[in-house]
Amino acid sequence: MKILPESLYLPQKTVSRKGAALELPLLARQFGRRGLLAHGNSLQSSGTLDRILSAAPDDMIVRAWRHSGGEPSVDAADALRAALKADPPDWVAAVGGGSVIDLAKAAAGLADAPEKTAYYQRHQKEVTASEIPLVAAPSTAGTGSEATPVSVLTDPERVLKQSIRHNSHIPRLVILDPDLLIGCPPATVAAAGLDAFVQAFESYTSRHATPFTRNLSELALQRIANSLLPLYLQEQEAASEMLEASYLAGIALCHARLGVVHGLAHPLGARFNVAHGLACACCLPAALAFNRPAIQPDLHELKNRLGIDVEALVAQWLGAMRLDNPFKGRRIADPEEVIRETLASGSTAANPRPVSAADAQSLLETIFC
Ligand SMILES: [Fe+2]
Repeated sequence: MKILPESLYLPQKTVSRKGAALELPLLARQFGRRGLLAHGNSLQSSGTLDRILSAAPDDMIVRAWRHSGGEPSVDAADALRAALKADPPDWVAAVGGGSVIDLAKAAAGLADAPEKTAYYQRHQKEVTASEIPLVAAPSTAGTGSEATPVSVLTDPERVLKQSIRHNSHIPRLVILDPDLLIGCPPATVAAAGLDAFVQAFESYTSRHATPFTRNLSELALQRIANSLLPLYLQEQEAASEMLEASYLAGIALCHARLGVVHGLAHPLGARFNVAHGLACACCLPAALAFNRPAIQPDLHELKNRLGIDVEALVAQWLGAMRLDNPFKGRRIADPEEVIRETLASGSTAANPRPVSAADAQSLLETIFC
């Protein structure tokens, strides 16, 4: 059996060390003296942004660009692209959650592209190679975006959440610093951690999984099973494990893809404005029941060898982290469109069991009942 995926894309360098975020300018210097650092509100309010900027050597010019919050949109990516065009830096860094990393990834990747960002969501094949090196330092343990060439952006005009992907968009340098997770609100820890767990699980059971990706998914599943609740309870020692786990799940998912949970979570997240990780966790039980005939040996393996009962663990987490199903009892205004988007998704295509329109409809009925 082949062990590796057909093509393997990894960040060129990954530094996983407490305190490494403060060395970001120095580590990025290999790409040039002029950098742009994209960040969210909390990096600024915590004072970490100032500490990183003031750690830059005197001959470097690093300017900051703030994402005002919320889901990363194609409009925000256009705004950052305009800033890059007006004053092109030698490198772009993203220090923040998955939203900031996805935004910076799309903007740096499309910096010289002629069309607006939304155009490339629809015309994936026209995305060309990026010239600007990207540095990514996650401040949440969740999306694994720091390890992938994919940016997931919303288009509010089309009420759509869609990815832009090019292998050259994968960050060149990744910094995994548990100190960046200090002060992360419990609700964010929960949503991000659930996303990481579902990503690890879906990449594990994906029809494109290889022994290489399965091992990464398995490492991630074990670490998240041990560390998500402690991190939610603000035990900072768990931060390093969660960060490494979501990074590994990111590498696994960009090679093995995911499954129908992500196929459903994107259209539902865009319509109901639900945190992506929570949307995934709430779609998981229905998807598990649907996939069970195809993944029984995997579930058995996880339970008996690793002690992970996926369904029970997610139910326990939702209770312990006081998360309710935000879809329960609600109504989808355009169910046919949600089903169409679910079936068109690359994640759904990787699901271990083929998904028909009737299957998607019955999954939605279970999730919303
Ligand atoms: Fe996800």
